[in-house]
Amino acid sequence: MTVAKALTVLDFPKRKASSEKISMVTCYDFWSAQILDQSDVDCLLVGDSLAMVMHGFESTVYADVDLMSLHVSAVARGAPNKFIVGDMPFLATRKGLQNTMDAVQSLMQAGASAVKIEGEAGQRELIAHVVESGVPVMGHLGLTPQSVHGLGGHKVQGRSESAESALLESARGLAEAGCFALVLECVPANLAARITREISIPTIGIGAGPETDGQVLVLQDMLGMNPQFKPKFLRHYACGHGVVTEAVNRFHAETQQGCFPSRSESYA
Ligand code: KIV
Repeated sequence: MTVAKALTVLDFPKRKASSEKISMVTCYDFWSAQILDQSDVDCLLVGDSLAMVMHGFESTVYADVDLMSLHVSAVARGAPNKFIVGDMPFLATRKGLQNTMDAVQSLMQAGASAVKIEGEAGQRELIAHVVESGVPVMGHLGLTPQSVHGLGGHKVQGRSESAESALLESARGLAEAGCFALVLECVPANLAARITREISIPTIGIGAGPETDGQVLVLQDMLGMNPQFKPKFLRHYACGHGVVTEAVNRFHAETQQGCFPSRSESYA
């Protein structure tokens, strides 16, 4: 099997220029990283959504730098051929430059190829500093889940005219600050298309329609691990819940029947 060559940060603008879409999925652990390393997907995001998906918290607010670094290092060991983006967790960029740079150092030394920072307001200089330090930064606008309490819930953003202009302005600001790409989460498709046209860096959408420069999904969501979780933007690419339940139930039944293991699966 041939493994696709890893993207570097230099490939992102090239992809936008050539209109070749960018695919990204979340990845949180070693075993799924090993699988994804052999896949065609362009890059992996160790998203702070791992607080919810892997640890059962109700929001991403519960992720911290140590937790993120632990997961980034597991993914980096499992997917040495992929470009890995590590999420800067809740408040990691809001406690001064020293704290920010310590968090960036931790994620990069854990094996990330870049960091992702949510929001723009009050962070342009800080983002420029991280970029000038040699660390690629992916921006994230629209529904920024770390601000779920400030936003009043997980809601579509940029619906009013003023919110639309503010988002466009923030997107321009992040491009100017040196971000190499921008995640747009849960924004109307027309607005995402407009931002994509008007900024120089590639946009990667989730719940942002088809006209962004790329798409990102949470791995467990796209695999259908939770069939009840089906927001409008999500497509289930597999019936993961059914596949796992069926396999475990077969193992259970065959154990009870005494037909697992067979002689050939036993040591002489
Ligand atoms: O944490 C995450 O998984 C994310 C994606 C939803 C973009 O930020």
